This record gives sequence, C-alpha cells and structure tokens, in this order.
Amino acid sequence: MSRLASVNELRYYPDIPFYDKQLRVVLRNCGHINPENLEEYIAMDGYAALGHVLTEMTPEQVIDEIKRSGLRGRGGAGFSTGRKWETSRRASGYPKFIIANGDEGDPGAFMDRSVMEGDPHAVLEGLAIAAYAVGSDQGYIYVRAEYPLAVERLQLAIEQARELGLLGTNILGSKFSFDIKIKRGAGAFVCGESTALMASIEGKRGMPRSRPPQSAEKGLFGKPTVLNNVETLANVPQIILKGADWFRSMGTPDSPGTKVFALTGKVRNTGLVEVPMGITLRELVFDIGGGIIGDKQFKAAQTGGPSGGCVFTGHLGLKMDFDSLAEVGSMMGSGGLVIMDEDTCMVDVARFFSAFNEDESCGKCSTCRIGTQRLHEILERICAGKGEPSDLETLEILGHLMQKATLCGLGETAPNPVLSTMRYFRDEYEAHILEKRCPAKVCKALIHYRVVAANCTGCMVCARRCPARAITGEKRAVHEIHQELCIKCGACHEACKFQAIAIE
Ligand SMILES: Cc1cc2nc3c(=O)[nH]c(=O)nc-3n(C[C@H](O)[C@H](O)[C@H](O)COP(=O)(O)O)c2cc1C
Repeated sequence: MSRLASVNELRYYPDIPFYDKQLRVVLRNCGHINPENLEEYIAMDGYAALGHVLTEMTPEQVIDEIKRSGLRGRGGAGFSTGRKWETSRRASGYPKFIIANGDEGDPGAFMDRSVMEGDPHAVLEGLAIAAYAVGSDQGYIYVRAEYPLAVERLQLAIEQARELGLLGTNILGSKFSFDIKIKRGAGAFVCGESTALMASIEGKRGMPRSRPPQSAEKGLFGKPTVLNNVETLANVPQIILKGADWFRSMGTPDSPGTKVFALTGKVRNTGLVEVPMGITLRELVFDIGGGIIGDKQFKAAQTGGPSGGCVFTGHLGLKMDFDSLAEVGSMMGSGGLVIMDEDTCMVDVARFFSAFNEDESCGKCSTCRIGTQRLHEILERICAGKGEPSDLETLEILGHLMQKATLCGLGETAPNPVLSTMRYFRDEYEAHILEKRCPAKVCKALIHYRVVAANCTGCMVCARRCPARAITGEKRAVHEIHQELCIKCGACHEACKFQAIAIE
C-alpha cells in the first residue's frame, strides 16, 4: 500500500518546474543510459548518424547541413561550426586533425564534463562525423586534468567503438578511416584557448600564439586543424539524424538550438539546465531556478565565467543567446551562470574574477600579464577602503586597452567582469571609493560589527562564539565589541538570536 502511494506521488518531467522549460538535446542520454555500455547508446539511435553520413552523404553535404542548421560553437565565441569545417576542408595539407575541446576551465562549469561522463559515445560520434566532413583521419579529445572519470569513460568508449568497427580503418566498411587519442589537460585555464591547447598537445608549454595563420590552415603540428567544443560536437549526430530544420525550430534565428547552463549561486534549484536559446534570464532564474533563496531580491547574474560579465535586474527580460548577451557587455561563454542576491557586493565579484584572471594569465604578452595584475591590484585596494576617485577612470582605460591589445582571448575578455560591473553598479564602486562604505556589507575593511544595546540580553553567546575574544560583557549586561580586536568574521552576528549585533 505504502509502495503504491509513493508511485502515485511520482511526477512527470513537465510537472516539475525545474524540468518544465528545459529541452534536452545534448543531455538527452545523460542519466538515462549506462555510459559504459555501447549497446545502450546504439539503442538510442547512437551511431545511426555516422552510418548515414558514411553511406548517404558526401562530406560537402554534411558541411552544408551543419551550415544550414546554424549551429554555433558552444565553447564561447559562437563561431559558425559549418563555416569552420568548410575552411578546414578547403585547406590543403595532410594529415588534418580534429580536436574536441573538453578542457572546461571556467570555475563552476561542468557542462562538458557531464556529457563526457554521461554520454561519451555522443562526443566520439560527433567527432567522427566532423572528421569525415573535413577529411581528417586523426582526432584528439583534450580533457581537463581534473576529470578522471571522463577520461576513463571516453577511453572505454573508444575501445568499444574500435571493437565494433565504429573507429579505426574502413569504418562500417566504408573508405573512411579515423581514430581518436585522449590528451589530458595541463590544468591551466589558458589551455582551453585554441592555440595554447594545440601547443599543449604538441608537448610544449600551453601558451597561445598570434594569428594568422589560423588553425584551420596551420594548427596542430603545423597541419590544418579543427577545434570544436564538446557540447558543439554532441549536437552534431542529432542534427544529421533529425535535420537542420528541426534544429532551427529551437532557439532563435541567429542562435538556433539549445544551450546547457551550469546554474549556480543564490537560486533555490541549482544544477545543469538545458534550455532553448533565447529563453529569458527571468525564466531561468525564477521558473527553472525556483527564485532566490530566502525570498531575497535578485541583484545580478554573472554569465560566461571569468571571461564574461554581469547583468542586472533591468536585464531579467534579456534573451539568453550569443548576440543579446554580447550587446549588453557580457557573453554566453561556455555556459556558466551564477545568480547573485542583494547581499552580493559587485566590486567584490569583480575582484574575485580579476584574481582568477591574474592567476591564469600565462604571462606571454605583457598587456595581459601586467594588465590583469593592475586590474586586480586596484580592485583589492578599493575593497580594502583605499580606493581613489581616479581608480575608476584607470580601470576603464586599462580595461578597454586590454580588450584591444592582448595576444589571446584570455586577456581580451579579462576586463569584462570589471567593466560590466562598473557599467551597471557604478554607485557601488563610488560608495567604496568616496564614502568608504560597502553597501552590501561584504568588504571586511569597510564594515563594523556593533552591539545594539536595546536588543542585547547579555546572554553571552556572542562572546563565547567570538574566535578573537573581541567581545566582553557580564551576564545579563549589554556587551561590547572591541573594534581593535574584531576580525570581522561575522560569528557573533550569526550566533545572536536577538538581532543585537548590527553590521554597519
Ligand atoms: C582563455 C580561454 C579559455 C577557453 N577555454 C575553453 C574551454 O575550456 N572549452 C572550450 O570548448 N573552449 C574554450 N575556449 C574557446 C576555444 O578557444 C575555442 O574557441 C573553442 O573550443 C572552439 O570550439 P567551438 O567553435 O565549438 O566553440 C577558451 C578560450 C579562451 C580564450
């Protein structure tokens, strides 16, 4: 009886708000099939697209179909996948290489990880179709070093595919031969950048190089190379099977299809969500994310990780697609989406991402090496209450200069978190610099804890919790916080049940 009752309580996906607005194309198999079992992938039409292209389509027709679908790279820049393949097909040189980018260095992002771990054959199939289209017989998957399970499952999938003649010489009896090697990442964010990634595969230090020549003409080992993101490639078999028109029926005219976001931060429901492109930020935050934890106010969303930017309440109606995000000074990036509430300090957010970019700058070009240092240094100073009015102009000049004069995308996009927060939250910067005040009460140097005498019962809990012994007072008497000893950890504020510790 109790078992029956629990079955009745089961709900279909559309009845669960978290799934209702999602559309699972890339993640369709994740969690549904056993990723270590090739037969389960085949049962879900796996490798049918590869079989179809090898028997029914010329490489040019494959490229045309992908071009017609409007598929744009999910790794960040949103470049047309079909056009990239076309350039590489036309490039002369042998061998040609094809690489899946599974480096995924953005903090908090795990979209590609889920695909590589949950549906590894979809990546292999996408890669094999791309290889057929461009005329490559050797592929690589560059996997983030911290993803051992992804490496294990991809390796197993490669062996299974070889055994069944889905990789190797004369695939499925055709003239097409193709094999894949796995290369573990070097643990650096910059190694996700195309030329740094190729240097890393070649066994060199992972640093970018200037372009031209473009990788499509002279890439890995000096040969024509196509690099595609894991999520981009996982879309390919579905486009071949269901057609470009089907793909275009989802999303917006200029950004067709779906996008996987890693929804995190102050929303009730966090996790990976796959939605049609063009869904609004409001739908993502409130319908799928379930709104802000503790019914607090939505303040901002950070999209695109350390290369992206912050948008504000005025952008809740913003369509989440490549071009709309770029228009407001942010970017889609690979799909990191951090939601922030009223308690977030936007200067501190910019400081956090600038520290990340400084750490991850490879140092090859001075504009990025020194520029990221200066951005971070100025933001640290502002958060420490030592900001000067001229800092705002310096941040702007430096940021715009870096966007134009760095060697690779890391330095070019590093100012985005700073410039976007300055654009939408300038008043917070001014409060830090001119009034020496942190409106969100986050920056330790700019806040003070004070006992509200009228509320203090003298229960002594705050004094006992204070790790710095900065609070004194007798039982049932109003307590005192000694500012010179206070380390501003907030333990007293959290412990007090009587709202007797105020933050100013
Ligand atoms: C600093 C930096 C890090 C990057 N990291 C990644 C990454 O982890 N994964 C990825 O697919 N693309 C990353 N990219 C973008 C790649 O350089 C490249 O544009 C992308 O892999 C191309 O694939 P797509 O056309 O399918 O998007 C990064 C770019 C930069 C500048």
